[in-house]
Amino acid sequence: MAEEKWKTAITDIGPGKINVRGYQIADIMENLSYAEAVYLILKGERPTPAEAALMNAILVSSIDHGASPPSVLGTRTVMSGGNSLNAAIAGGVLVIGDTHGGAIEQSARILQDWVKKREENESWDETAGKLVNWLNEQNKRMPGLGHRLHKVDPRTGKLFEIAARHGYSGRHIELVKALEKAFEKKSGKPLPINVDGAIAAVISDMGFDWRLGKGFFIISRVPGLLAHAYEEMTREKPMRPLGPPPSEYDGPGERKL
Ligand SMILES: CC(C)(COP(=O)(O)OP(=O)(O)OC[C@H]1O[C@@H](n2cnc3c(N)ncnc32)[C@H](O)[C@@H]1OP(=O)(O)O)[C@@H](O)C(=O)NCCC(=O)NCCS
Repeated sequence: MAEEKWKTAITDIGPGKINVRGYQIADIMENLSYAEAVYLILKGERPTPAEAALMNAILVSSIDHGASPPSVLGTRTVMSGGNSLNAAIAGGVLVIGDTHGGAIEQSARILQDWVKKREENESWDETAGKLVNWLNEQNKRMPGLGHRLHKVDPRTGKLFEIAARHGYSGRHIELVKALEKAFEKKSGKPLPINVDGAIAAVISDMGFDWRLGKGFFIISRVPGLLAHAYEEMTREKPMRPLGPPPSEYDGPGERKL
């Protein structure tokens, strides 16, 4: 019986041949930007000029956010402990989770679900109102809203502006904007759409599966993590106390078994 082969539709290789989604790698190198190549490998087709511009903006938007985010502290801590560059990058990537960077995944999931279940003739404000009630019933926060530093996230407005300029302001962007308004109306305090929420809405309008969500942040942030790992390696002494404030022990005092 012939051995059964597992199938992949991503890249076809052979001696002297590397065809990604059917296109020769040399042609891709010559003709596509990095963002366009990322779109191609994830979606299987080349992006339109609008999708290329949005993909580029997404990948640039989260490249770095200073030394304080948990993933950067992860990378620097692993580096400071005397590990390799790849361990430091992997450490930072492992820290990316549902509340840091990874909020794109659950935000896109909720937006995609609620755009699907929206009733005909329902306004975006009505859908957003129902969604806020659903979140409250579950005692859940809306991923993609709120920021511990920015009252207005400068990345969100730019992403939506680029989307609008290319005629790409679709249903998921409408819903997340209505949601921001609904939360402000309810609590009287602004709860800005953060970069994760903006990316979630844009990739949803671009037709990406929400399960790819965290990947967009990871692809964008790895160059930033690399810069931090390298700076830690070349500028700081090993095993320095990282991240103010220094930790304080408040467990039991010394005791005997
Ligand atoms: C990012 C985040 C941790 C920042 O939080 P913060 O500014 O320190 O705000 P707090 O956690 O102190 O919450 C302040 C109030 O806003 C509310 N709030 C904050 N983010 C909220 C959200 N996403 N959905 C609903 N309510 C939210 C809190 O319930 C709290 O309400 P209260 O004052 O009535 O108790 C928070 O907004 C959050 O959890 N967002 C969702 C996850 C996310 O999008 N992460 C990506 C960040 S780029």
